[in-house]
Amino acid sequence: MRIVSGIQPTGNLHLGNYLGAIRNWVAMQDDVAAKGGQGLYFLADLHAISMPHIPADLAANTREMVAALVACGIDPARSILFNQAQVPAHAELQWLLSGTARMGWLSRMTQFKDKSGKNREGASIALFTYPVLQAADVLLYQATHVPVGEDQKQHLELARDIAQKFNTDFGGGSDVFTLPEPIIPPEAARIMSLRDGAAKMSKSDPSDMSRINLTDNADTIMAKVKKAKSDPEPLPSEPAGLAGRAEAKNLVGIYAAMAGISPAAVLSEFGGKGFGAFKPALAELLVAKLAPINARFADLRQDRAALDAILRSGAERARTLAAPTLTAAYEALGLVR
Ligand code: TRP
Repeated sequence: MRIVSGIQPTGNLHLGNYLGAIRNWVAMQDDVAAKGGQGLYFLADLHAISMPHIPADLAANTREMVAALVACGIDPARSILFNQAQVPAHAELQWLLSGTARMGWLSRMTQFKDKSGKNREGASIALFTYPVLQAADVLLYQATHVPVGEDQKQHLELARDIAQKFNTDFGGGSDVFTLPEPIIPPEAARIMSLRDGAAKMSKSDPSDMSRINLTDNADTIMAKVKKAKSDPEPLPSEPAGLAGRAEAKNLVGIYAAMAGISPAAVLSEFGGKGFGAFKPALAELLVAKLAPINARFADLRQDRAALDAILRSGAERARTLAAPTLTAAYEALGLVR
């Protein structure tokens, strides 16, 4: 078993990021160790240049994200934690795969359509070929499993298509690449804004009250939960009763995700109670779970030398693991080196 996954280095990490990708990675770390496998987790800084960006922010966000991942429980000794930019094989393999990926396949990618919007002509080439780099990210390490959110499933399927075509066209009877399986969390916790149950919790929401940041202290968390939008009805005793109550559903979902139980279990405890009783319980739970992360994060994010050392050693290990597959790809294509 080899798990490979990436995350874009955005700043301002919040509860949505934690309950989305990060917590899954941490859980998988034990799984993969128990199976004698290896987990590789990276900051997708090369992907980040597909959109307009500020170089100094990218560098700061990359370090910030490493600090957050380690604070949340990614252990750089057990897992290989690195950033793409320090492993040139990612960019090299992307080019080699570009001869195999088809225009038609990439034209169907919904993320490109969403992110380029009406300005297709002005979008970067990198935004269009983004999924080829993503394919390189996982094929380079012969990943067997790739944890991703539902929104990245299409990119994973593309990686499989590229691998399959490459193997058929150039493998000469043996496979150069492993076909990776996506691991999509069953109840992918969709964490919504605390101010609007219809909008995703986001770092770009102008209201800081809309999200819980990994840097928020206990008082701030308490205040944000207290002010979170809810409704005057008591909680229902079954999940079906949350239909049409987006804010209530979100708060129950957050409680469930943080406690590691189902929304039904939350409602069997709080059904019939109002938000006056539920909110303090939710705030306490959040503080209890996030306080240790918050403390480690605060320490680590100041220690630039330690963060750079983690990335340097992760990249070194990643380069070693990548080398044989990259060589095999060059050879398969008839490229003399
Ligand atoms: N595109 C992914 C996202 O935005 C991040 C990513 C880059 C990734 N390369 C990857 C995820 C490889 C899994 C595997 O979430």
